[in-house]
Amino acid sequence: MNYLESKQLELMPLPAEPAVAEILNQPEPEYQPLASVWDGLDSELLEKMLDFYPRTRPQLILDATVNTGRFWKGSSRPVVGMDIEAKHCPNLVANNLRMSFRDNSFDVIVFDPPHIPNQGQDQSKDFNTRFGLVLKSSAQNGYNFSYLYPPFVQEAYRVLKPEGILFCKIADYVHGHRFQWAHVDFIRAAAEVGFCPCDCIVKIRKSPIVSPRWKTAHHARRHHCYWLIFRKSDKCE
Ligand SMILES: C[S@@+](CC[C@H](N)C(=O)[O-])C[C@H]1O[C@@H](n2cnc3c(N)ncnc32)[C@H](O)[C@@H]1O
Repeated sequence: MNYLESKQLELMPLPAEPAVAEILNQPEPEYQPLASVWDGLDSELLEKMLDFYPRTRPQLILDATVNTGRFWKGSSRPVVGMDIEAKHCPNLVANNLRMSFRDNSFDVIVFDPPHIPNQGQDQSKDFNTRFGLVLKSSAQNGYNFSYLYPPFVQEAYRVLKPEGILFCKIADYVHGHRFQWAHVDFIRAAAEVGFCPCDCIVKIRKSPIVSPRWKTAHHARRHHCYWLIFRKSDKCE
């Protein structure tokens, strides 16, 4: 399978091309119901979702925000990991808003964007450096990251195969004295480019990210985020 297009991609240390015949020869997973609330590791949930939503076993998966690849520890899935930051040593250092892949390249795309812009220091967690929480958003962009969703979903739609699946992990939050409905903004953006919004799994978080600047806040502390599931199709099932 030739999924590398540009010179840049050819130069990157991508994983060995997935043995397509080997993947195709594996039996399709048996149907297992999936609960709408998940209290566990993302990597374990992803494994279940990859067996549950794609119509056939995915031959090629793009993690468009791979960071250091925590989602894929111990996984033998055929994943290309992209990140804009070279320091995380992804397979591919690139911007997911302008991808160099051909149309219809991937069966599944996983997207776990930075969630909270302009975050205050939280010494109790290493989230800022680990997860890109130090990214900024201006007043013009409403102090949120929603302006990044339309260009991303347009690219995701283009590089996914027909019937391909987009998984997005996303968290709502309070910022700029307002509740920021990130998951609603993402669903709107994805539907706008043609994705069918198909499902939503609530993922329990052990503890919320709390800025020390706002010890007294009259919003419920976020003890959950979402995994949203989209299909490049006009129907879910
Ligand atoms: C929340 S982290 C992902 C964490 C990862 N899923 C994990 O569990 O290890 C978001 C990542 O997106 C990357 N990122 C931010 N903007 C990006 C862009 N435009 N293109 C590619 N990667 C981007 C950041 O560098 C960061 O590593």
